[in-house]
Amino acid sequence: MFQINQRFIPDFTKPLDLLVHCHENIERQLEALARAAEVRRVGDSLNTAQAFAAIDAACKHFAVAGIRHTADEEESLFPRLRKSETSAGDEALAAMSELESQHRTAEDMHRQFDEFVLSLPRDGSADTRELDSFGEMTAELAAFYRPHIFMENNLVFPIAGRILSDGEIHAQGEEMRERWKDILQKINATAANVSPLPG
Ligand SMILES: [Fe+2]
Ligand SMILES: [Fe+2]
Repeated sequence: MFQINQRFIPDFTKPLDLLVHCHENIERQLEALARAAEVRRVGDSLNTAQAFAAIDAACKHFAVAGIRHTADEEESLFPRLRKSETSAGDEALAAMSELESQHRTAEDMHRQFDEFVLSLPRDGSADTRELDSFGEMTAELAAFYRPHIFMENNLVFPIAGRILSDGEIHAQGEEMRERWKDILQKINATAANVSPLPG
């Protein structure tokens, strides 16, 4: 998943690399949430405002870019792997079912997390119970994503790289390009005055 304002021009001819890049962005958002949880615990009002800016950015990232990343996997990658009739494709089948189930769990977790964030007071007056709950939910999200991303990066994507044809990879990339079209336009507009750098 890509971020507006970042100096990164995605290369849709390498869609599997882009999916890994999206995971790095997910991990960055989870780290930002963990830092925000620490700041909230300290209770500095200036930092509280900064913490909420990071929390809001992370929630938006998962709600907008996260949804598209899931679609990139479920609609543009997994169906192509399922069509494969190789033994490696069979190995990926069980993993993909598990990953899709985890995507639904992630959606529930984010729904609950977003609702909880909305309920938090933003003036630094959150009580210990609320701060503890925020820290726990943030830690649960990180613990949830770690094995999910590991399985995708280290099992499913490498299998896809081995068994999908150049044509299938190209088609996957073009579907993803279409899915991200509006965000890409914003990235391009923002990047007009900066040099394109990966990541
Ligand atoms: Fe996934
Ligand atoms: Fe993923």
